[in-house]
Amino acid sequence: ADALRIGIAGLGTVGAALVRILQQRSNELAISCGRKIEITAVSARNRNKDRGIDLSGIAWYDDPLDLAANADIDVYVELVGGANGAAETSVRAALARGLHVVTANKALLARYGVELARIAEKNGALLNYEAAVAGGIPVIKALRESLTGNHFSRVYGIMNGTCNYILSRMEKEGLSFDECLKDAQRLGYAEADPSFDIEGNDTAHKLAIMTTLAFGSEIAADDIYLEGITNISIEDIRAANELGYRIKLLGVAQKTETGIEQRVHPTMVPLDSVIAQVDGVTNAVALESDILGELLMVGPGAGGSATASAVLGDITDIAKSRPGAQQVPVLGRPAHLLEPYRRAQ
Ligand code: NDP
Ligand code: HSE
Repeated sequence: ADALRIGIAGLGTVGAALVRILQQRSNELAISCGRKIEITAVSARNRNKDRGIDLSGIAWYDDPLDLAANADIDVYVELVGGANGAAETSVRAALARGLHVVTANKALLARYGVELARIAEKNGALLNYEAAVAGGIPVIKALRESLTGNHFSRVYGIMNGTCNYILSRMEKEGLSFDECLKDAQRLGYAEADPSFDIEGNDTAHKLAIMTTLAFGSEIAADDIYLEGITNISIEDIRAANELGYRIKLLGVAQKTETGIEQRVHPTMVPLDSVIAQVDGVTNAVALESDILGELLMVGPGAGGSATASAVLGDITDIAKSRPGAQQVPVLGRPAHLLEPYRRAQ
């Protein structure tokens, strides 16, 4: 089979890790997928930055939109970030050409996911986004493929690695909030604008995507009660411990008789619960449904390698897909069949 040609925009924490893995594992990936995966184009802001990766022979584009609109590729991989700007325009351009798209961009999907899903489905393109929720944990695949047919009652969990890392280190090492945040940034866990992490918006973006997949309703990221961790002090953490609890930033979505309830806020969880043991950058996602029961997935929630693992899975899924085969709906069901979002009273 012909090689799958991919163009990668964004060569930061995630993009650089992805390039490295694709190059190092090129032969075994070709065997698993039955065809080679070739990086033919890349884009980032600074052409001269040393990223510790070999970009020789790969076409360079200064502008992701130019890459998405004009490069000779089968798949556009968007790892730039941000709900608007280059990420949005380039993903739209790629889908308009009928290119398959892989993205880790939860901010983009929380805002435009339904619209982008409609365009992808109309143009016969795949839109994969496993890395957008809970880093390396395959929660999107679980919700949109493995658990099809289940009726979900609740989805919840720790979905922001930066916040969990900060809370864990404050508790264990008595470090200040600011010190822990700086380390999370240094390690590549935090968003370009870390207020998205600590104010809870990033968890809300992820929750909104999970809500749509679980309950079949349109994405409603603006309908989430939102409280981040910026006001949590070491004293709060100690006081919770003394009462037998630990503070975790949770996102929770549940279906009630009157509609859907979504919220993100610091929560006291019992010290002996599984969720209380989730430490550092690790995430945990609980999916409660009628056929399966409760599924708890725990694993690396942020960082270059964990996130690149999820992006790689999305790319290899495309490499293995057969032209003309029935496609998995982007949001779990065809976008035109999503129900209007109904908020719980
Ligand atoms: P980084 O900030 O490390 O990297 C962003 C990359 O995009 C950089 O290479 C930057 O170029 C490039 N870029 C930014 N703006 C432009 C532009 N206008 N034109 C061209 N290139 C541009 O981000 P991450 O790798 O951490 O994140 C990428 C995406 O993955 C985001 O959507 C993020 O939310 C998501 N994500 C990140 C995770 C993580 O743990 N880091 C986990 C899960 C998802 P340059 O390097 O030259 O500055
Ligand atoms: N900033 C995000 C986090 C990256 O800390 O969880 C993973 O989505």
